[in-house]
Amino acid sequence: MLEKFQIARWVPFAAIALTLSACDKAPAEPLEPPLAGASIGGEFELTSSTGETTRWEDFAGQYRIVYFGFTYCPDICPTDVQRLSQGLAQFERAKPELGAQVQPIFISVDPERDTPEVVGEFIANFHPRLVGLTGTAEQVKAAADAFRVFYSRGETTPGGGYLVDHSAIVYLFGPDGEPLATLPTDQDAEAVAAELAKWVS
Ligand code: NI
Repeated sequence: MLEKFQIARWVPFAAIALTLSACDKAPAEPLEPPLAGASIGGEFELTSSTGETTRWEDFAGQYRIVYFGFTYCPDICPTDVQRLSQGLAQFERAKPELGAQVQPIFISVDPERDTPEVVGEFIANFHPRLVGLTGTAEQVKAAADAFRVFYSRGETTPGGGYLVDHSAIVYLFGPDGEPLATLPTDQDAEAVAAELAKWVS
C-alpha cells in the first residue's frame, strides 16, 4: 500500500517536470538555408523565348527558381518543370504577394535544337510566368558552368534525335541572386510549395 502511494505521488510530479522542460526550450534559431554560401549562380547572357537578351542581373530583387533542361527531354525535364510550376502556383494561392516575387526560369542545355521559338512552345505548357532561355553553345556552357550544371550529348534516339544527359536540379535563389535551397520536384507540388514557404518571406 505504501509503495503504491509513493508511486502515485511521483507521477504528477514527473508530468509537471516534463511540461516545464518543454516550455523552457529556447526559441528555435532561424533556419539556415541549405545552400547558403554555396558558389552557385552568376552572370549569364542568354536569349529569351521572345528574342530578348536576358541576363542574370535582370532578375535582381526577385526570388528565382532556376532549372536547366531541354525541351526534347522525354520524361524528367517536363516532370520537373511541371512540378515546380504547380508548386509555385500552390504557393501563389496561399501567399499571393510573396508568390508574385518568385520568378521561374528554364534554361536550355540543348542550344542546337532549342531555338527561342522551340523554348517558347515548351514553356507555354507550364507556369504562365515561366521564362525560357537559350543561347549560343558558348553562352549556354558559360551559364551552366556558373550554376554547377553538367550536361553532355547522350544516346541517339529513333528518328535521328538525341538525348542530353544533364543535372536535374531545381535551384531556389534569393533576391540578391544568392542560392537558398533545392526544390524537391522528385516528390510533388505540395513538397515544392512547402519548401518555397520555408525560404520566401
Ligand atoms: Ni531532362
